[in-house]
Amino acid sequence: MNDGAGDARTARQCSEGKPALDWAAPVSADRPDGDRFPWAAELDGLHAKVWERLARGVHDARAAARHPVLATISAAGPEARTVGLRRADRAAGEVEVHTDLGSDKVAELRADPRAALHVWDRKVQLQVRLRMKVEVLSGREVEERWRGIPQEGRLNYGGEPPPGTPIGHWRDHEATVARERFGVLLGRVEEIDAVVLGERPHRRALFRRADGWAGRWLAP
Ligand SMILES: Cc1cc2nc3c(=O)[nH]c(=O)nc-3n(C[C@H](O)[C@H](O)[C@H](O)COP(=O)(O)O)c2cc1C
Repeated sequence: MNDGAGDARTARQCSEGKPALDWAAPVSADRPDGDRFPWAAELDGLHAKVWERLARGVHDARAAARHPVLATISAAGPEARTVGLRRADRAAGEVEVHTDLGSDKVAELRADPRAALHVWDRKVQLQVRLRMKVEVLSGREVEERWRGIPQEGRLNYGGEPPPGTPIGHWRDHEATVARERFGVLLGRVEEIDAVVLGERPHRRALFRRADGWAGRWLAP
């Protein structure tokens, strides 16, 4: 029965005594005013935090942003897969992923460069969605990046038959290094949709390249 008081309850009252939901961590008891994430109070701070966490993913193999999900558009519909984040450049608004040029995502991106990169960074209760246009770099353009990849890592680029080819048994695949199959997905970010949980009300903002990343709040 609705006693009419529900609407007047604060978010804090609602979270008291209830188990924490993964997607909605309660306001911390020791900071009832909700300043666990002071960087999320203003648009500038949130925008800076997004790029800081992305950069952390590039440099720290254990960071959440190290392994985002890259979504593309295929002829059959949407596709999503885990990738490794190799570069995050706030000034240019660019991110990079290394890949095998023989993989399906490359054909998909060549046909339609629109893509999204998704990160859920639990530690700071931040979801990041980058909407971007992806350019596929190859050949001499990627020579310098190739030089920086250790031999073990180079095995990710090559192999016979190419990724996604049906094989009779996993032993039928031979891992080989093929320099010419190494490619870089250069994502030019057009929009950033950022959501911060862990405080009530939740925060959501949209930052667009088109307006100089000024950003605006959205209802979460
Ligand atoms: C933790 C993890 C990291 C991965 N990193 C990459 C990567 O950096 N680049 C890549 O092309 N595939 C990476 N993969 C493999 C892809 O998820 C995917 O299986 C493969 O690229 C084929 O995808 P496609 O057929 O959609 O092109 C990674 C997979 C996992 C589980």
